[in-house]
Amino acid sequence: HRHLLGIEGLTPAEIVTLLDLAEEAVAVSRQVEKKKSVLRGRTQINLFFEASTRTQSSFEIAGKRLGADVMNMSVGASSVKKGETLVDTAMTLNAMNPDILVVRHHAAGAVHLLAQKVGCSVVNAGDGAHEHPTQALLDALTIRRHKGPIHRLRIAICGDILHSRVARSNILLLSALGAEIRCVGPSTLLPKALDRLGVDIFTDMRKGLEGADIVMMLRLQRERMDGSFVPSVREYFRYFGLDAEKLALAAPGALVMHPGPMNRGVEIDSEIADGPQSLIREQVEMGVAVRMAVLEALAQHLPN
Ligand code: CP
Repeated sequence: HRHLLGIEGLTPAEIVTLLDLAEEAVAVSRQVEKKKSVLRGRTQINLFFEASTRTQSSFEIAGKRLGADVMNMSVGASSVKKGETLVDTAMTLNAMNPDILVVRHHAAGAVHLLAQKVGCSVVNAGDGAHEHPTQALLDALTIRRHKGPIHRLRIAICGDILHSRVARSNILLLSALGAEIRCVGPSTLLPKALDRLGVDIFTDMRKGLEGADIVMMLRLQRERMDGSFVPSVREYFRYFGLDAEKLALAAPGALVMHPGPMNRGVEIDSEIADGPQSLIREQVEMGVAVRMAVLEALAQHLPN
């Protein structure tokens, strides 16, 4: 079975093929009749061990638009609460013969483990601080629609990079397509191995934003902090919150992105989040299109 476990391992050509397929899905999603039938008769199970608004709902809508029967496993009301393990839960669902399993889990690597165990295609919907490949694809699609080819764009990814699977997948994808990536944040929230990924590192946000074509904001992932460093909101916003004054340092026509969920007044000012440079709502629309593209690409390799 084919899987989508991360951006790592995808070639630039494969990424561009998925983005082109997603562009077609945008058109389908804007029609009155939104249905295709490439997944008719197929079963898709969404298995989310962590909270989600955007990813889970867009995978459900994407599967349904392609004609799949989609089931959302409600982990909170499942036998996980009675001590059943991740693998036993997945193998139980696998016995019901799904074709595609979409998984989110708090442990990095959990989705890779399941892909080795189950007999269907697995899609990573976020595993710990490791990868969130469909988020990076939807971000790239959104950028490409506004700025054209990603090659040579200067993209500043700002905030809690250390705990962010979104940052990791975006760094892999956007650098594979030739962007200049800057990571901006307090040194305590920047991973040590960042320079090996070929990005430029800034602890002064004003310097990091200079000339940026895209400013991508990230939330503080308090649920992944061990308590040793949790910045105060007021101080964090002052130094690393995106407001009009800091955004003015970016390139003319710079666009602002955020994967969500947003914490207004912490990493981003409401005026910016809702302002004319914000692509945040469009990112959500592109999320459905990219997930349709990924499911459709996997469908081409499902057994007949
Ligand atoms: N961006 C993102 O993954 O959002 P959710 O956690 O709401 O799915």
